[in-house]
Amino acid sequence: MGPQVMEKLASRIETERARREPPAGFPALPDIPPGRYTARDFLALEAEHLWHKAWLYAAHVDELPGAGSYKLWQRNGSPIVILRDHDDDIRAFYNICRHRGGPLVTADAGMLDGGLVCNYHGWTYNLNGELVNLRDRRDFIGLDPGCRNLVPVRCERLGNWIFVTEDPDAPALADYLGPVHDYFTALPIDNLRLVSHETFEVKCNVKLLLEGFLEVYHLKNVHGGTVDRFLDYHGTTITLFQHGHSLMLSPNRRADWVDPGTRGLPEMPGTTDFDRQNSPSFNIFPNLVTPVAPAGLPFNVLWPQTADTALLEVTWFAPDDPDKRDEDVWTRRRSNYNRILGEDLPLVEKIQVAMDSPGARGVPLSYQERRIYHWHAELDQRIGAERIPESLRVAPLLNEWTETGWT
Ligand code: FES
Ligand SMILES: [Fe+2]
Repeated sequence: MGPQVMEKLASRIETERARREPPAGFPALPDIPPGRYTARDFLALEAEHLWHKAWLYAAHVDELPGAGSYKLWQRNGSPIVILRDHDDDIRAFYNICRHRGGPLVTADAGMLDGGLVCNYHGWTYNLNGELVNLRDRRDFIGLDPGCRNLVPVRCERLGNWIFVTEDPDAPALADYLGPVHDYFTALPIDNLRLVSHETFEVKCNVKLLLEGFLEVYHLKNVHGGTVDRFLDYHGTTITLFQHGHSLMLSPNRRADWVDPGTRGLPEMPGTTDFDRQNSPSFNIFPNLVTPVAPAGLPFNVLWPQTADTALLEVTWFAPDDPDKRDEDVWTRRRSNYNRILGEDLPLVEKIQVAMDSPGARGVPLSYQERRIYHWHAELDQRIGAERIPESLRVAPLLNEWTETGWT
């Protein structure tokens, strides 16, 4: 974050602390209809137009340590194998044999010594996805092996993070991320190692789970003994970006406060006092939320499972310093974090039950909660408002409150 941006954000924090109402002209946001969390037709539209067309975080390069290493990734429903080829490039393919659809890999991760060999009749592909061997070829009349290569899936990197999209027409990842890309590439992200990975099953629609990560209005009630003690939610400043991304930056209550869970851990090179005294949390649309801290960051990645169940994947990354890989500190840091999650998760499960009942009414959102509205408006933009029943639509009211860059 350059000095100009820090200055701008610091002044916004002061504006937030001092303001008595939302800025002039900020619209009253219409209620979010409860049916958006429960109506099967709406969720089918969401699956088709959002999830199967979005850029989604899938893996970190530490999971693909050498040529031939792979990860089977099925979080978005489709079976996709992500691998490292002999040129050290990362590639992704549908894990679907071009003969009769057999799986090429069946384990979650591993090493491919002899290329990708189909488990059904043994068709073999190299790491570039080219069909290089098929048994009894003489019996396939007129089959051109050159036309039966594995179907590629687009994957691109942000530093060592690998993102995947099933949409061949999606913009390049860097263009899609825009200012968020600039922020992360200015950090020493190539030196972040993968520390740990765990998943939580949550009984609610994925959007209800996500929304708890997009505001700090709930801190006083839900996190009174934890986060609220060190973050000043009244100083929080929010930036809405194009394509649904957003940033929420919350100042620490005290300038000299240090997260006790990070004591002894190395900081990212180039860390400033501004980085130490504020907590920036990004939502990379749609499903990645990451609060960045000098000693590392978790990727909270949220996945729909069914209409009313979701999966939360928490993967921690940290600056790599082989002399300071203190696993005890990490155990403590993660358990602190999971304690905070434990304050949120039971609540959202109850809200799902509420949304499913005839007692549910529209959800009014405040100025502080505008990231949630921004998220929903982007979803409708992707689905196409004309496809959505009128009673479930969210109007695009925040376009003029959306920023195209940092300055
Ligand atoms: S399905 Fe793969 S070889 Fe037959
Ligand atoms: Fe929370």
